[in-house]
Amino acid sequence: MIALDGPSGTGKTTVARKLAERLSAGYLDTGAMYRVITLAVLRAGTDLADSAAVAAVAGKAVFAIGTTPGRPAVSLAGEDVAAEIRGPEVSHAVSPVSAVPAVRELLVARQRRIVEDVVAEVGGIVVEGRDIGTVVTPDAPLKVFLTASAEIRAARRSAQDTAAGRDTTHAAALASVDRRDKLDSSRATSPLKPAEDAVHVDTSELQIDQVLVALTELARKRGLLS
Ligand code: DC
Repeated sequence: MIALDGPSGTGKTTVARKLAERLSAGYLDTGAMYRVITLAVLRAGTDLADSAAVAAVAGKAVFAIGTTPGRPAVSLAGEDVAAEIRGPEVSHAVSPVSAVPAVRELLVARQRRIVEDVVAEVGGIVVEGRDIGTVVTPDAPLKVFLTASAEIRAARRSAQDTAAGRDTTHAAALASVDRRDKLDSSRATSPLKPAEDAVHVDTSELQIDQVLVALTELARKRGLLS
């Protein structure tokens, strides 16, 4: 198990998938799980401020999440929603939804089951999120906390949005990154914070491949590479 935590725009997803591929391990994007629940909440027209109603939608949502690093599928009620969960509506609403304790309880339990199944099946998994090293898999032999300056993360986010054909500006991306950081770090349940024994890697000045080399080296040192 490798736990990869940190805010958005640190290159976490790309690095996690490439690392999983390199290690022939599975991959779990826990952010996608919070996003798919958020989409269900938005589709149900639920008031985001009504935690009980949000939790009720989460409890009933039928979704699936793939664990292959190549192209992990995400579906809601059988529909492929991999693109829709990255859109601005979901990105805007996901922090309040992920702050609801009952939603976190439900998803953390599901994440632990997926981790167990994938480890039994393929021998290992790279899990990315915000509370993986602290809550989901505190026993992971390698925990990494990725960081990068807000400016750099916003630039990466707007480049991703442009590549995906979504309207964006650097200022809007920076505002969105700042807003989500504040909400994710200040929530009462499992706020975004590094595990005490996490290795910090600042990706501001690094290319993805350099981050990958650093993490592969860490994995090797922990005996996670054959
Ligand atoms: O990694 P991401 O941007 O797709 O995550 C979407 C949101 O989900 C983010 O605002 C924080 C939340 N999240 C969380 O609270 N806990 C996780 N383990 C993963 C994501």
